[in-house]
Amino acid sequence: MSQRRLFVTTALPYANGNFHIGHIMEYIQADIWVRFQRMQGHAVNFVGADDAHGAPIMIAAEKAGKTPQQFVADIAAGRKPYLDGFHISFDNWHSTDAPENHQLAQQIYRDLKKAGLISTKTIEQFFDIEKNMFLPDRFIKGQCPKCGAKDQYGDNCEVCGAVYAPTDLINPFSALSGVTPVLKSSEHFFFKLSDPRCVDFLETWTQDGRLQPEVANKVKEWFSVRENADGTKSEGLGDWDISRDAPYFGIEIPDAPGKYFYVWLDAPVGYLASLKNLLDKRGEDYEAYMADPRLEQYHFIGKDIVTFHTLFWPAMLKFSGRKTPDKVFVHGFLTVNNGEKMSKSRGTGLDPLKYLSLGMNPEWLRYYLAAKLNAKNEDIDFNADDFMARVNSDLIGKFVNIASRAVKFLPDGRLTVSRMEKVASTQIVEVVRGLYETREFGKAMREIMGVADAINSRFDVNAPWKLVKEGKAAEAAQVSSECLEMFKVLTACLKPVLPALALQAESFLQCEPLTWANAALPLGEDHQVGDYKHLMQRVDIKQLDALFEPPAPVEQAQAATDSIASMPGGEELAPTISIDDFARIDLRIALIVNCEAVEGSTKLLRLTLDVGEGTLRNVFSGIASSYKPEDLIGKHTVMVANLAPRKMKFGISEGMVLAASHGDEKAQPGIYVLESGAGATPGMRVR
Ligand code: MSP
Ligand code: ZN
Repeated sequence: MSQRRLFVTTALPYANGNFHIGHIMEYIQADIWVRFQRMQGHAVNFVGADDAHGAPIMIAAEKAGKTPQQFVADIAAGRKPYLDGFHISFDNWHSTDAPENHQLAQQIYRDLKKAGLISTKTIEQFFDIEKNMFLPDRFIKGQCPKCGAKDQYGDNCEVCGAVYAPTDLINPFSALSGVTPVLKSSEHFFFKLSDPRCVDFLETWTQDGRLQPEVANKVKEWFSVRENADGTKSEGLGDWDISRDAPYFGIEIPDAPGKYFYVWLDAPVGYLASLKNLLDKRGEDYEAYMADPRLEQYHFIGKDIVTFHTLFWPAMLKFSGRKTPDKVFVHGFLTVNNGEKMSKSRGTGLDPLKYLSLGMNPEWLRYYLAAKLNAKNEDIDFNADDFMARVNSDLIGKFVNIASRAVKFLPDGRLTVSRMEKVASTQIVEVVRGLYETREFGKAMREIMGVADAINSRFDVNAPWKLVKEGKAAEAAQVSSECLEMFKVLTACLKPVLPALALQAESFLQCEPLTWANAALPLGEDHQVGDYKHLMQRVDIKQLDALFEPPAPVEQAQAATDSIASMPGGEELAPTISIDDFARIDLRIALIVNCEAVEGSTKLLRLTLDVGEGTLRNVFSGIASSYKPEDLIGKHTVMVANLAPRKMKFGISEGMVLAASHGDEKAQPGIYVLESGAGATPGMRVR
């Protein structure tokens, strides 16, 4: 296949806050697709940028006591840890306030004007006489004209759901200054979307296979003049108000002093600006790049910004004589633990940086999201239990384990002649290729895990460990070689999702960087593999607990630092109890007769205790992070001997050993098992 040229973007996030998990989901989806295309040998430019302009950012900057430029620069400075942390391989990150964007947006506007598609009209809007500015709908509040609810926004009521114009509000006031806004007229600039040329163009453009079917159907409704179910009228495409009056943080409209482009006019132009900035840095010609008829242009966006990307943006490009997008890929919203749709600015429970700082592997999230994503704009939910199950049982249990199981039976780490059917590997590679191309990542993951299942069964049926015992080491090596060959094929298939793991696996397999061209080729007889190091840790439930633990309220955290003295060992004293309360707890000296690791748990040790009862007790204790089993054998400790036995995953625990730890495990890790004074013997009561 000949090399394709792809220009790929994600939506440009508002520079008024840090990334939340919804942004990261969009970037991961696009990044998987991009990495897949690069693995096929295609030339991809994958760019993003901050969406810097608009009234909300201008106002937020003022509140923060910064210039808007400084405000967005500070936000931009915080982007890298997220992008690097989740392996998002943008070729460039730019800003819509950059010079390239000013020039391009103004040029596009001039071209649209030349095409006769810009008009002006004087409109009346609410004006804040104290702030001396026109108020965006979001900054006008008042009583809902329908239900009378107080303190509602200028465009819709959060109590009864009514949609209205800010001028309909009862007792309107400015959310910025509190004053009653006055109506003031001003000349606005419009992009004439209702022009028959635009309508004709968009009617075709939106229905010719560039959009997902469900998106195309929705968009179709916007063209028709009709009566809606709720009695309102749809007018078809109306002209689009593209200007805002000073003061505004944005790009000046040429030959119109005091007028700025509405943020959504210059925002998508930022795609081109970021690309141009990238090509300029590389010394490549932007105009020539865009003029190449082979160039394909793709935008990954969320379902809330479809109008901008399927009407305004293609029309702007078309009628300014530019190339229009080949496809717009619309995804749904991510919710977390079945929560409501997250607020666009606040995000929700799952904080991406906290995820990383807890040492959680970014590729767990990449895999989990891949397993849930499809080509539709459906919402998907991050569910903690489901996350742990899919990562631990599928990704690690099925895929990663193949390598660790198989490598043990290769003499000197060399592959022997393999009967692996070329057909099987070629087939999976081809199936998965098609699924990635169409963004059916969930199906791709299922196909891959299906093959992983088959490989594991083959391994189990042939039982190389038995073959070795029967003196058939050569056969064992052969089975293992086949499994490792298939592990290599699956690693290639997963590489767009798991780039870091694939890199480690390539180094273990001692193979060339995996691509779609070499994915199905066998490593071959006598190929030497390297030392196996464990490729991926399992998700620990404690990490998930910590991830979703709500952050301590500010006052509480403050109080904590203020009164360290009342928090000995990092936690407050428990409420007072009576001596009788204490007497109910039966503490005894216990001799640790034996101690061993618990298979399948990184936290627990299994203790065998002599409490002087003539029989021994079995107790599980969460101290594996601080003790090796041999450290504890022979010691006398203190246990709660009358604690009700508890059934645990690994057996029944018959009591509890006492140990000390700091209230803030992260700040001061370490667990210290109590030891009795010399001379105490098993069974003595502690009081
Ligand atoms: N600045 C505009 C986009 C301009 S594009 C020229 C914007 N910014 S945003 O920060 O609000 O959203 C950026 C992207 O994140 C959008 O594609 C949006 O749909 C997506 N998401 C925001 N919240 C999301 C989820 N909860 N889940 C998935 N995607 C989400 O809109
Ligand atoms: Zn209302």
